[in-house]
Amino acid sequence: MELVVVILAAGKGSRMHSDLPKVLHQLAGKPLLAHVMDAARSLNPQKIVTVYGHGGDQVQAYFNQYKTNAPLQWVLQEQQLGTGHAVAQTLPHISAHATVLILYGDVPLIASNTLQSLVAAVNEKTLALLTVETDQPQGYGRIIRDKNNQVCCVIEQKDATPEQQKIREINTGMVAVPGHWLKQWLPNLKANNAQGEYYLTDIIKKAVEDHLTIQVFHPQTLAEVEGVNDRKQLAALERCYQAAQAEKLLLAGVTLLDPQRFDLRGTVEIGKDTIIDVNIIIEGQVKIGSRVMIGANVILNNVVIGDDVVIKPFTHIENSIIEAECEVGPYARLRPGTHLSRHAKVGNFVEVKDSLVGEDSKINHLSYVGNAELGKNVNVGAGTITCNYDGANKHKTIMKDNAFIGSNASLVAPVIIGEGATVGAGSVISKNAPDGKLTLTRAKQETNNRWQRPRKQ
Ligand code: UD1
Ligand code: CA
Repeated sequence: MELVVVILAAGKGSRMHSDLPKVLHQLAGKPLLAHVMDAARSLNPQKIVTVYGHGGDQVQAYFNQYKTNAPLQWVLQEQQLGTGHAVAQTLPHISAHATVLILYGDVPLIASNTLQSLVAAVNEKTLALLTVETDQPQGYGRIIRDKNNQVCCVIEQKDATPEQQKIREINTGMVAVPGHWLKQWLPNLKANNAQGEYYLTDIIKKAVEDHLTIQVFHPQTLAEVEGVNDRKQLAALERCYQAAQAEKLLLAGVTLLDPQRFDLRGTVEIGKDTIIDVNIIIEGQVKIGSRVMIGANVILNNVVIGDDVVIKPFTHIENSIIEAECEVGPYARLRPGTHLSRHAKVGNFVEVKDSLVGEDSKINHLSYVGNAELGKNVNVGAGTITCNYDGANKHKTIMKDNAFIGSNASLVAPVIIGEGATVGAGSVISKNAPDGKLTLTRAKQETNNRWQRPRKQ
């Protein structure tokens, strides 16, 4: 069966008080609309049609570089005349034999399996509606049922009688409908209601009149159907999402010292008995092994971490690979292209970029290592700098196995420090240092026996 997902995103979002279109505001590091798109994509639809109004250029610019398995179509709704009017704009893009699933661009946490049930229930004679019972139904459309408990229509808050307003079952807005019925009903909607809008919800009454069955589904959690209208709701949904991610990890054998101070803005896989302290931010795709210890205030962005690694507090790691048994930090910065081999050590105030650090090698204090290749068991002394950039190009520094770099050396690339070579402290090394020898550049130390400190006159 052909599936078309329609996402409504034309609303102004004025309560966000923002220059950014509402659906581009981020939850867990990803625009609201991207969450909805991802849920839509998981159903393998033939296409995804998004109705936009305000800030359409910005929204499309973002999503045109977004990978989807289904073609994205954009439909402008110039005036926001209601949800029914919004969906009506998409009809030229919908074939009569398609099932149409309608989602909201500002309801980000809808779950794929909830949507799957909706879509699977739809047929020629069945429409699937997602509703939920709540103690706070104010503002929502109410589900009206007949004596046999069958849904007969949806009444909006502003059109509801005081009696109807007591109903606790509300319309989430998400619905799956056979395309040809949608094509029949939408052009005939009337805006004769309290808000003077074309209500999508009026199709429920029409479906009943046309003898369709209204099959009702409920989400697993309330958060799935909660919308974002202001930043307070956005913050609340963010916490809700993060709590769910933390819970999944706890139940899978990861210790989070405080699950309320854990933030995942991407995806993560974590092995057993890993212990994570507070205020960790995980971004992009991250993989963490077993028995890893991560200290407080660490940011990991697209990182692979092996087993038994220790990441000490205040460390920032981006696009890097850390093999088993390494120790990093505190206060280390590993920039893109860093690869630490097994049991390497990078200590405080060290920056590493685009470098391979061999097994058992150490860069313990206050160094910059960029575009470098370190062999096994290399020791880089405190304050060592690879001078990798000549103002135009980057050059490589190679430190072979067992090299020892004295403190405060400047290694002017391109340069090779030979196997087992020693570089004297404070040297500026601009030519290759031979294997097994001491190389140093240093002015001779003198002591002046006649010199005296000046005295006050
Ligand atoms: C709608 C439903 C209501 C339901 C509620 C759930 C109707 C008439 N009412 O209420 O039953 O309980 O959602 O949140 O459908 N939008 C457009 N174009 C428009 C109007 C809205 O694209 O002309 C989009 C908005 O951007 C938003 C979604 O549709 O993503 C819902 O709009 P909103 O105004 O929040 O819906 P309500 O009328 O409050
Ligand atoms: Ca609303």
